[in-house]
Amino acid sequence: MSRLFKASVSENKELIKNHYLLTLNPLKKIKKPEPGQFFMLSVDKGLDPLLKRPLSIHRLTGGNLQFLYRVVGSGTNILSEKKTGDILELIGPLGKGFPFKKTQKNIILVAGGLGIAPIFALAETLAKIPPPAPPVLLFQGARTEDEVLCIDKLKSIGIDPIISTDNGTLGEKGNIVSVLKKYLTRHSLPVNRYILYACGPEPMLKSLSSLAIKHKLKGYIALEQHMACGLGTCLGCVVNTIDGYKRVCKEGPVFPIEKIVW
Ligand SMILES: Cc1cc2nc3c(=O)[nH]c(=O)nc-3n(C[C@H](O)[C@H](O)[C@H](O)COP(=O)(O)OP(=O)(O)OC[C@H]3O[C@@H](n4cnc5c(N)ncnc54)[C@H](O)[C@@H]3O)c2cc1C
Ligand code: FES
Repeated sequence: MSRLFKASVSENKELIKNHYLLTLNPLKKIKKPEPGQFFMLSVDKGLDPLLKRPLSIHRLTGGNLQFLYRVVGSGTNILSEKKTGDILELIGPLGKGFPFKKTQKNIILVAGGLGIAPIFALAETLAKIPPPAPPVLLFQGARTEDEVLCIDKLKSIGIDPIISTDNGTLGEKGNIVSVLKKYLTRHSLPVNRYILYACGPEPMLKSLSSLAIKHKLKGYIALEQHMACGLGTCLGCVVNTIDGYKRVCKEGPVFPIEKIVW
């Protein structure tokens, strides 16, 4: 099945300043994405910018694809101007998602900022596993209260996130990795019965990786890198791992947490 397809914009809604929820209706049948996989989306006005931009799948609603994104530069700015009925070209689903199907373990999810986009996708999929579904703890960090996204959607699937904000406007003040660290220490969790899945900014993932290694907590992280092709051919997205250089778009974006060389 070709992964190149067109989709029409059903809705492109600004949730808070510079943060949008984009709903697309694919114009042909596509492969169902797994949480952690991504799509390359055309954001062009003519040929500018030429390259598609990667966004993680956030949600499947009916036959529609949803993406949660922040405007950071020219591509996402053009995307934010798309209106209902506009047509985008996409490639995907791409990359390897979070491996979770056979896990019998208790699950710790950690999302920093827009990392909640793929982490919500995973949380929602886990919530649909027939009973006994694995217990899920979700740690969510953001800069401010406004930027703590998806709380209502999480509550609707039975998850009450543990929150931190940089300025203390919601939840604990500070970064979410420190909150997880305190939680692990305070509750003496039997870490061999837990598995971690995370996505967020690189400094967060780096400190989470040290914490996980220190506590012998196994898990997976979704990385973000600048991408040109998204298809494994340009080698523009490589990261260093203990097994050598790997392409984030092909071998990733999800990697075992202990494999990344920071
Ligand atoms: C697999 C994957 C999944 C992603 N999922 C999401 C998502 O669900 N929601 C979301 O909002 N964003 C996501 N991103 C990031 C998103 O692709 C970039 O923000 C976007 O491509 C920026 O395009 P732009 O033209 O607006 O910005 P540009 O003009 O290209 O860049 C603007 C600024 O953003 C920085 N930047 C651009 N791309 C990245 C990147 N990949 N990683 C770190 N910094 C970057 C640049 O260094 C620059 O400072 C994902 C990236 C990857 C690789
Ligand atoms: S973006 Fe081209 S190889 Fe990954």
